[in-house]
Amino acid sequence: MCSGTEPGAEPAATPETAAPVPVIRVLTLFPDMVRAVLATSIPGRAERQGQVRYEVTDIRDFAVDKHGSVDDTAYGGGAGMIMMAPPVVEAVEKVRGRDDATVILTTPQGETFSEELTLELLADLQAKGELVLVCGRYKGIDERARELVVTREVSIGDYVLSGGELPALVVVDAIVRRLPGVLHDEDSAANDSFTADRDGGLDCAWYTKPPVYRGLAVPEVLMSGHHANIEKWRRLQAAERTRQRRPELAPPEPQGGRVPRQDRNRRQQ
Ligand code: ADE
Repeated sequence: MCSGTEPGAEPAATPETAAPVPVIRVLTLFPDMVRAVLATSIPGRAERQGQVRYEVTDIRDFAVDKHGSVDDTAYGGGAGMIMMAPPVVEAVEKVRGRDDATVILTTPQGETFSEELTLELLADLQAKGELVLVCGRYKGIDERARELVVTREVSIGDYVLSGGELPALVVVDAIVRRLPGVLHDEDSAANDSFTADRDGGLDCAWYTKPPVYRGLAVPEVLMSGHHANIEKWRRLQAAERTRQRRPELAPPEPQGGRVPRQDRNRRQQ
């Protein structure tokens, strides 16, 4: 499945619909790490179901010499190794299916990843049939690679990881789970945190069996079978949680006020 087709190949067509399967191409120095994650859980299922295809390319295959060199020290001095431009540029040019493909570099200097950006990149993937991600490593990549082939830079937050593989996987996971048909009812994204259903705020608290655990009972309203009340409780609970934890995301004060204290998680006497 992963990387099963030739780099640069046109997206495959499903026999029933003849619609091209969108392809996500990941360029990395750690292909096994990327393949392992993309073969797992929902991203893996999405590929097995034929809703997306992954193509993982080892940037070292485009090394500048027979020793496999892909990085070197910085001109002007300074600690840390810089990924060289030629392997990155040549890898991108070889694997991308179209010249106008969006090529994302994962870097702490990029725009911060978000639900909004997820949907934008999803639309881009669907429109162009492909998305290319380059995983940065070491201290960074030669600026000329950015200029020549990178069209977008994405950060997953204000902290520095050892490389861009985990951020690229975060981006791919967030996009793929929004492709139509990937999520089933049991893992629906409809009212996840940050969705329109939640007014861009946080999701509510959720409970499952047992009804009482270590003296903590499930809020009564959830056991009532009254769907309208349950929906109202969840909406209010999500809004209250958003106000408490992420006030900057909070919607205006909802009609009907806050979640009544007795409807919150109750300690059983
Ligand atoms: N590479 C290292 N840290 C990163 C981050 N926070 N986001 C994206 N790429 C990175």
